[in-house]
Amino acid sequence: MPEDLYERIVELAVRRGFFWQSYEIYGGVAGFYDLGPLGVRLKEKIVQLWRRFFVQRHQELVVEVETPIIAPARVFEASGHLEHFTDPIVECTRCGRKFRADHLVEEAAGVRAEGLTPEQLTEIIRERGLRCPACGGPLSEVRAFNLLFRTTIGPYSENVGYLRPEAAQGMFVAFKRVHEAMRKRMPIGIAQVGRVARNEISPRQGMMRLREFTIAEVEFFFDPEDPGQGGYLDELLGRVADTKLRILRAEDRRRGVEEPTEYRVAEAVEEGVVANPWLAYWMAVARDFVMALGVPYDRMYFEEKAPEERAHYSAQTFDQMVRVSRWGWIEVSGHSYRTDYDLSRHMKYSGQDLTVFRQYERPVVVRRKRVMVDRAWVGRTFRSRAPEVMRAVESMPPEEVERAVREGRPIRVAEGVEVPPDRVRVVEVEEKITGRRFVPHVVEPSFGIERALYVVLEYAYREREGRVVLSIPRYLAPYEAAVFPLTRDERLVSYARRLWRELVEADLYVLYDDDGSIGRRYARADEIGVPVAVTVDYRTLEDDTVTLRDRDTWRQVRVPADRVVEAVRRFVYGGARLEDLGEPVKAAPA
Ligand code: GLY
Repeated sequence: MPEDLYERIVELAVRRGFFWQSYEIYGGVAGFYDLGPLGVRLKEKIVQLWRRFFVQRHQELVVEVETPIIAPARVFEASGHLEHFTDPIVECTRCGRKFRADHLVEEAAGVRAEGLTPEQLTEIIRERGLRCPACGGPLSEVRAFNLLFRTTIGPYSENVGYLRPEAAQGMFVAFKRVHEAMRKRMPIGIAQVGRVARNEISPRQGMMRLREFTIAEVEFFFDPEDPGQGGYLDELLGRVADTKLRILRAEDRRRGVEEPTEYRVAEAVEEGVVANPWLAYWMAVARDFVMALGVPYDRMYFEEKAPEERAHYSAQTFDQMVRVSRWGWIEVSGHSYRTDYDLSRHMKYSGQDLTVFRQYERPVVVRRKRVMVDRAWVGRTFRSRAPEVMRAVESMPPEEVERAVREGRPIRVAEGVEVPPDRVRVVEVEEKITGRRFVPHVVEPSFGIERALYVVLEYAYREREGRVVLSIPRYLAPYEAAVFPLTRDERLVSYARRLWRELVEADLYVLYDDDGSIGRRYARADEIGVPVAVTVDYRTLEDDTVTLRDRDTWRQVRVPADRVVEAVRRFVYGGARLEDLGEPVKAAPA
């Protein structure tokens, strides 16, 4: 077995079919990974769990959509990705290799370089005399490299499109439709799970930095002046008020603090550590979700990004960090307060009104000053231009008109168009206001699913008596159960096949294996995390009972065969202990 935990996991993943590098027979391409049969199942389970936490449990507020992975250039002009979604790149002027400049500086000079500008990075490279890590050659100036994958849409080369680097833009662009379809609910979360692509400069961290991956995001839209509209915020925040979050603030990081501080969610909101209560709420949900992936509380924290480290759209960002063996702390999710940045930009670029109307419970009567012009006079004087002149005068700031009237000056509408002061007056009127329009603000929890998948494997990985046991949380296991006949005796095999079919028909994924000794079959099942093995033995033929074996304790109980489906369900999804499901077996058959 390899020494390093990461290597051991990769060896297991490739051998048993969780994941491997894509295009292997052509030498592989960095940043692309295939999911194998077990990887697909595990990913599906992780996505299901994410849905349970972020969508199903919030179904009153959060709905899911699916939008294309290719978008026209205009979308990413509007979103700011064409301008800002860049990483710094540096090139060796001798061998031509290209490197991510901030990573090169961090590795070679041992300084934190995330968020530094290309100019600052070039300066460090020159000051420290950094050279190409591959051939020792001189390095170029650092420049910004845009990470969007470019393509064309249809046969027209000028019709440029890009692969989306985040699912979020699909939700912003479709916001109006979803909002209307959901009968103008506010607040509203729009969720999406889908593939995204980022043309990373030189990804070297296996499954951790992919050029194509699955993202699971919620864009949560709310009224910035009344974020708790309808009492939802109080109710939800109340539920997590005492949940503890480990947070490392940007100002603490700047002072060299490395240990996160523990805050109750209510405290983090009250003290302004987290700038928006909805942001804090979703961080609490994310904490519980990552714990449900098998990560202990103290192996996770939220790191606030400094302004220069944040994405262009964010007013505050926390990365949810999880400790892994090879790379230390890695980001599994990002939590950003995107304000009204995206919707406002899409309003500007599309010319569409994406505002929301909020009706007051009772109309509000306000007294307002209004400019009135002598319309008959304007009609006589300006004839065909009269409507334009009336509109222009009546929409002038009343204070400005009042001042002109007081000073006896004419009101100047345009070049050569003036209205004398005695033809206008400012009156006070009462107006009934039924509501107000606003651009919703947004907070976003965003997860990379392949990273979560690796994290699940690493936190599940155990070795016992020289072999691997993958103690994946039972509800995430790719196979929920295994069925084994004790031997290849035809009577045991046909009984076991019947039982296997029954479990399959009950919508479970079940491994059937009759190859080799029962001990080796248990070992093979343990290694891929099957939570429970059902064994058909000679006693089964006499009394219709089978054994259930727990992957983690290796203990066994005897259960009537016609209760196996229910027992497996209770064990895998109901959190039951094996001992609660049947009669303990004293000596295991293998
Ligand atoms: N939408 C979050 C991200 O792009 O990382």
